[in-house]
Amino acid sequence: MVTTAMNKIMCASPGIPTPSQSLSKPQSLPSTAALPLRTIPGSYGWPLLGPISDRLDYFWFQGPETFFRKRMEKHKSSVFRTNVPPTFPFFTGVNPNVIAVLDCKSFAHLFDMEIVEKKDVLVGDFMPSIKFTGGVRVCAYLDTSEPQHGQIKNLALDVLKRSSKVWVSELLSNLSNFFDTIDTKVSDTGSASYIVSLQQCVFNFLTKSLIGADPALEPDIAQSGYAMLDRWLALQLLPTVKIGVLQPLEEIFLHSFPYPFALVSGDYNKLYKFIEQNGREVLERGEKEFGLTASDTIHNLLFVLGFNAFGGFSVFLPTLIGVIAADKTGLQSRLRKEVKEKCGPGLDFESVKNLELVKSVVYETLRVNPPVPLQYARARKDFRLSSHDSAYEIKKGELLCGYQTLAMRDGQVFDEPESFKPDRFTGEEGRKLLDYLYWSNGPQTETPTESNKQCAGKDYVTLTGCLVVASMFQRYECITGDSSSITAVVKAK
Ligand code: HEM
Repeated sequence: MVTTAMNKIMCASPGIPTPSQSLSKPQSLPSTAALPLRTIPGSYGWPLLGPISDRLDYFWFQGPETFFRKRMEKHKSSVFRTNVPPTFPFFTGVNPNVIAVLDCKSFAHLFDMEIVEKKDVLVGDFMPSIKFTGGVRVCAYLDTSEPQHGQIKNLALDVLKRSSKVWVSELLSNLSNFFDTIDTKVSDTGSASYIVSLQQCVFNFLTKSLIGADPALEPDIAQSGYAMLDRWLALQLLPTVKIGVLQPLEEIFLHSFPYPFALVSGDYNKLYKFIEQNGREVLERGEKEFGLTASDTIHNLLFVLGFNAFGGFSVFLPTLIGVIAADKTGLQSRLRKEVKEKCGPGLDFESVKNLELVKSVVYETLRVNPPVPLQYARARKDFRLSSHDSAYEIKKGELLCGYQTLAMRDGQVFDEPESFKPDRFTGEEGRKLLDYLYWSNGPQTETPTESNKQCAGKDYVTLTGCLVVASMFQRYECITGDSSSITAVVKAK
């Protein structure tokens, strides 16, 4: 259940164009000045009743996608007021009122750090107890105006840069073990459920690359590190995520109260100690180069490793493998051909950068299935927000809620937005669309910096996706399955 939960969970600063600039392509959209001013439609309903009714729709009667889609249709607007969970009865301090932004143009306001702030809004107005992060407000909860944000973001960027020396070799050797496990299971039983093996692979390669520590040094971590992170993540995120178990049990037991950190404190402390003892080099850099205390560095590294990186890949990679393994349109032979023609036997970041189709499939997977579907930001000041057809007045302090799953299906930007089109991001026109690919909390064409809140691992994530696809087709002629199991493989000749 923890693994299922995991899959459902994640399931104008310098350099960033303002929303109106960033949306000048691919079609000429009306300028903000010309747009009619409209009152934001929708309401929050009666106190308690409005939020609880919306909560039940969100988790039970409709599910997140239908929840947002139906309201968008009802209000004939991609911008509207609604409530999002968690709410009543035991989330009393949480304000569920949000303004939903569901098209590419209004969504882009979430990236403009002049007009929005990101303090403590990673998962909405609700924030899991900071006991889950050792009493420290870690990077993802800090606004760019807080000096610690820059220190820690720069540490994360530095850790990634240094890790690039071992990232590819660690990834490929762990993937090789992962594929060995699949081969054995498929030949023994005809089917391989792969989520656990994939998470072990991801945990090992990330721990070695980001922390510089080998999980094998500590048998408990080597065997159960990935499961410790799963439990820690699930407890933080359960109040906000639809799991799909039997209702009303899910409402009563999973969405009514925050879970206490005490349930996973043992796991967290083991992971903390492991980093303290085995990640000396990175800890020293945290202190000497970025002015952080050892404990701030460890809690932040643990969050980047466990929440950002492990959490993100645990959702993204099964989706990517599933999209390819389930395809029946001939995509696999095209991918295999491209990998064969353009890569030698060894793979690295440079060689996969030339794989246009592979890259496009990775981008399209992130467009259709954004691993972190919800993004939030609070208005720093009063401002005017624009969608494609209207402008709206936003008041300081109001919370914007972007649901990427719908924003990434914006028909004014993407042709046939509901279809998975493997070639969508190829060619000159396709590459222009990268301005509107937002999975990393910013356009794919932008760069994460201390002045914005874009995912520090943005480029590593897409290149890792490409490496996974390339290594899959160096090994296999074809592979059959879905986002949780493989049922047949044919080895490459
Ligand atoms: C598939 C994998 C990943 C996904 C889907 C993902 C997604 C995201 C998203 C959506 C955000 C912004 C959250 C928000 O503020 O609303 C974010 C932030 C962040 N991510 Fe990633 N991420 C992934 C992997 C990584 C990796 C490998 C790292 C490694 C360093 C990383 C480091 C960070 C950091 C440090 C932040 C906070 C940025 C800031 O506060 O300025 N992520 N990620």
